[in-house]
Amino acid sequence: MKKIVEKYVELPRNIRKPLWRIWHNLMIKFDRKSPEETFLNYGYAGEDSEFSHFELNKKDAKFKYSIQLYAHTARHHDFSNTDVLEVGSGRGGGASFLARYFKPNSYTAMDINARTVKFCNSFHKAEGLRFVQGEAEKLPFENEKFHAVVNVESARCYGNIPKFFSEVKRVLKPGGKFLLADMIKPADYDAFLVDLEKTGFKVIEIKNILPNVVQALRLDSEQRANAIDNKVPKFLRTSFYEFAGVEGSGRFDAFATNKFGYWSITLEKPA
Ligand SMILES: C[S@@+](CC[C@H](N)C(=O)[O-])C[C@H]1O[C@@H](n2cnc3c(N)ncnc32)[C@H](O)[C@@H]1O
Repeated sequence: MKKIVEKYVELPRNIRKPLWRIWHNLMIKFDRKSPEETFLNYGYAGEDSEFSHFELNKKDAKFKYSIQLYAHTARHHDFSNTDVLEVGSGRGGGASFLARYFKPNSYTAMDINARTVKFCNSFHKAEGLRFVQGEAEKLPFENEKFHAVVNVESARCYGNIPKFFSEVKRVLKPGGKFLLADMIKPADYDAFLVDLEKTGFKVIEIKNILPNVVQALRLDSEQRANAIDNKVPKFLRTSFYEFAGVEGSGRFDAFATNKFGYWSITLEKPA
């Protein structure tokens, strides 16, 4: 199991989807007594000044680095009076954070996994926030519905990334923002950007945030390992350390030695 988690990004795309079902089911099982694990990303550590426009309450502060990844990714969008879509919202922590702190008109958070969507709708409450089930490559929304699309650590899972990009462009209003962050293998980076360009987005900013992700994992590893030790049976713990990028795992080392890149990308649909 540990090897499957470690090599996930190298697995054929058609088997990545069923693997998510298994992983979500495990998360639901291990976090059901007092659910609190609502992030599935590696986090971002930056200058405090980057985040001076909000102050986290005590409960949210526990997930500071995962939240900062969302805040960083969304930094070029003014949420007020806008309708926002997130694709690949996972266990909903990022959607809940953006909806509660930046108060868009509506925030629709979509994930492929129906059980996780059900969990999110009962667990996260915020005005305008709803979770729906759907597929990134076939977004169940009308044309030009949203002012922004958020996508954090999810695009790498999709079977057809160019199809996803064209779906994002379809559902965005002219001038709408595409706010993306993900790990990308250096060998795949150029093709990823070419696909984005071909779709016709205008680039606002592309930033290599690998050092910020590695620093976040360093600062958060102890908490991540403790949460796993408290909830996950012993025989599965190394797989979860791998998934969570705990220091010492293959995933952490792959980041720390530049085997993987990590980028935040802000794009705009031309008006
Ligand atoms: C690494 S998790 C990130 C979750 C969340 N964005 C976060 O940062 O906590 C990736 C998510 O993408 C979802 N996903 C994978 N393939 C998908 C697809 N084709 N369409 C929609 N969601 C998908 C998975 O179910 C999973 O919840």
